[in-house]
Amino acid sequence: MAETAMPGAGRTAPPMCPAQGQRTEIAAGVTEPAAVLTNAPDPASESALSAEARRFLLDDETPVDGDRAHRLAAALAEIRATGGYRQTTAELAHGCKIAWRNHARCVGRLHWKALRVVDRRDATSAEEVFAACVDHLRLATNHGRLQPVITVFGQRSPDGSGPRIWNPQLVRYAGYARPDGGVVGDPLQVDLTAAARSLGWRGAGGPFDVLPLIVRMPGEEPRWFSLPEDAVLEVELVHPDLPWFAELGLRWHAVPAISDMLLEIGGVEYPACPFNGWYVGYEIGARNLADTDRYDMLPRVAAGMGLDTGRDDTLWKDVALVEINRAVLHSFHRAGVHIVDHHTVTRQFVTHEEREERRGRATPTDRDWIVPPLSASTTPVFHRTYTNTAVRPNYHRQPPAWT
Ligand code: ARG
Repeated sequence: MAETAMPGAGRTAPPMCPAQGQRTEIAAGVTEPAAVLTNAPDPASESALSAEARRFLLDDETPVDGDRAHRLAAALAEIRATGGYRQTTAELAHGCKIAWRNHARCVGRLHWKALRVVDRRDATSAEEVFAACVDHLRLATNHGRLQPVITVFGQRSPDGSGPRIWNPQLVRYAGYARPDGGVVGDPLQVDLTAAARSLGWRGAGGPFDVLPLIVRMPGEEPRWFSLPEDAVLEVELVHPDLPWFAELGLRWHAVPAISDMLLEIGGVEYPACPFNGWYVGYEIGARNLADTDRYDMLPRVAAGMGLDTGRDDTLWKDVALVEINRAVLHSFHRAGVHIVDHHTVTRQFVTHEEREERRGRATPTDRDWIVPPLSASTTPVFHRTYTNTAVRPNYHRQPPAWT
């Protein structure tokens, strides 16, 4: 379900920052969406917000308490008086699900209705946010029977401030830059690891050290918190037929919980809203462990298998790639941790598209993120055409919190 969002398959792609003009399909007459996203304190921002509130609250799908026109009038009055408005828990929960359904980079959208929404807008201290993230991990992990969950923290205020979680996911492995230019751990997390160290965190220096969670509340310094070990389920990787594979000492965490995206619903922005689904095997097996700028394991696996790595046309990379992916799926199954393979998830995605079509809705899709990074042409999505229209509500990339 994306390095972002559910969401998605987490491959390196151009930033999805809405400020870069990727949102289309904004109704005519509505003020420039960037104004909503930056909450620029000029008069235009109020009208943009009001227009988005109108679109969201007048949508038949949105569950409002009582009379729709009345609800909208109250929201507009609140915007005029305070520069913002507060959504009900029902409006928020609905918006979270629709934002998932709308997210073009997520192949796991069949399950959008099953999202559990935890409304923690009341969390005002960094400790409370951290504790809610720990609760999130436990609820999502559910002893291996993973459940899609989102926890929503406070909305951005009219002055542009809001809570932020610095980590891109609730669980990430540290990457320690070595003086020789190499990295121990996940090279993708070198910057965050350095940021954690500059705040006083000290890691063990191993290849799979879970990073602390770094939380920054408006007007405060960032603070870090170590995740309790029993809140982070991990799977040790073994191969069904290759006994030596276990000696590589590979592992991965069970829950992919994106924590750095911004959720926008009816013009209201939630800059801290960790959400998770479950892994598609290839995210770990064909990207995290295989990319040359990540754990770069293909040469090691090929060596273990005795493949001829001297020439590309022996297809040693392809053979090793499949075996890592078999190990990932096998190990998660064996540990009782939910995961899905690329054949199943892409079939489910087509089912989702068809279901949406029957309801008269398009499925906005970013093909680059939906087609699997291995065995693409063996999956149905490879053979279909897709269009990507940005629609709201949605999840967006936002600039890293520490810059
Ligand atoms: N690709 C990211 C990772 O490997 C996770 C992105 C979200 N994935 C998901 N299945 N919800 O950690």
